[in-house]
Amino acid sequence: MFRLMWMQLQRRLFARALGSLMLAALLAEASSAAQPARPEVLLRFSHVVAPDTPKGRMTSHFKALVEQRSGGRIRVEVYPDSQLYGDDDEMEALRLGAVEMLAPSLSKFGNYGLPEFEVFDLPFLFDDLAQVRRVTQGPVGQQLLERLSRQQMLGLGFLDNGFKQMSARKPLRTLADFKGQRLRVQASRVLVAQMRALGAQPVVLPFGETQQALASGVVDGAENPLSNFLTQGLAPLQPDVTLTRHGYLGYAVVTNPRFWASLSAPDKELLAGALAEALALGNRLSAQMNEQALAQLQRRPGVRIHRLTPLQRAALRSAVQPVHDGFARSVGADLLKDVQQAISPEAPKTQSAD
Ligand code: LMR
Repeated sequence: MFRLMWMQLQRRLFARALGSLMLAALLAEASSAAQPARPEVLLRFSHVVAPDTPKGRMTSHFKALVEQRSGGRIRVEVYPDSQLYGDDDEMEALRLGAVEMLAPSLSKFGNYGLPEFEVFDLPFLFDDLAQVRRVTQGPVGQQLLERLSRQQMLGLGFLDNGFKQMSARKPLRTLADFKGQRLRVQASRVLVAQMRALGAQPVVLPFGETQQALASGVVDGAENPLSNFLTQGLAPLQPDVTLTRHGYLGYAVVTNPRFWASLSAPDKELLAGALAEALALGNRLSAQMNEQALAQLQRRPGVRIHRLTPLQRAALRSAVQPVHDGFARSVGADLLKDVQQAISPEAPKTQSAD
């Protein structure tokens, strides 16, 4: 049974890889005037969101820096919007060498044998991005990146998107509002537990299938940072956006260690330097893009933005508290303690959030 599933997956990946090669050949032909005919290194960067998001902007900046600094010797092909691989197969594709870089959300690593990454999903854990960065840009973040090697990934850095808001066809302000709502979540056990604690029915779906599921009514609502909400075209389907700010969404940029080992030392340095700059840009843009998305949604006819009173927020927060206790063991009590220490007001500052 397992062997059959494995063969099917291999076949699926092979077919997609073939498709990607054909797409890559077409793209290469289209841009051949600007590039040397044969790049020495090809780096395919696949992701699931739109180009005009913090992740999309980060990857296109990375591409521009790398190609310019290598004089086109290293070519970066960016495949946004689950064009090449989606949530279901991108990590296998990376392991098999069908792509060289990904930036999955931190919520998606738990399903791949790294439950400690689900610590970022704990609802109401972070108050702001400055707290997140004290974790991701400090020793705890470094430790987490190192743990990726357990699953044959090399972690290169963290990127913020921001805080998630709830959306549906009605406001979601109280537990009574959540009751029975089918709400899409990423494949994270913490997020499933969060929705259950609120009284909703969690539905795990790949990002690339969410819009369709909302359009057809398979699910009633979702949680997203507003830049994703806007660029996925969810506004016409989800007229009520409740600014719950209940959870964080961020990413880890990962590569295949075999690919990385195949690079020369100067190329590794070039790529690492370009990525650090691109991540800094993405992190500068993240809060700004979510604010711009809010401003756009506020102007949009048919979209209603709802805010929580302090009491409503406190009630939601206390309803999901058992999720923290329930997952302390699987994310690791020591890690949770380190994270809490890093975000506490007395913790030494690392990199400031804009
Ligand atoms: C989601 O699935 O909701 C997000 O992980 C999408 C993304 O990459 O921002």
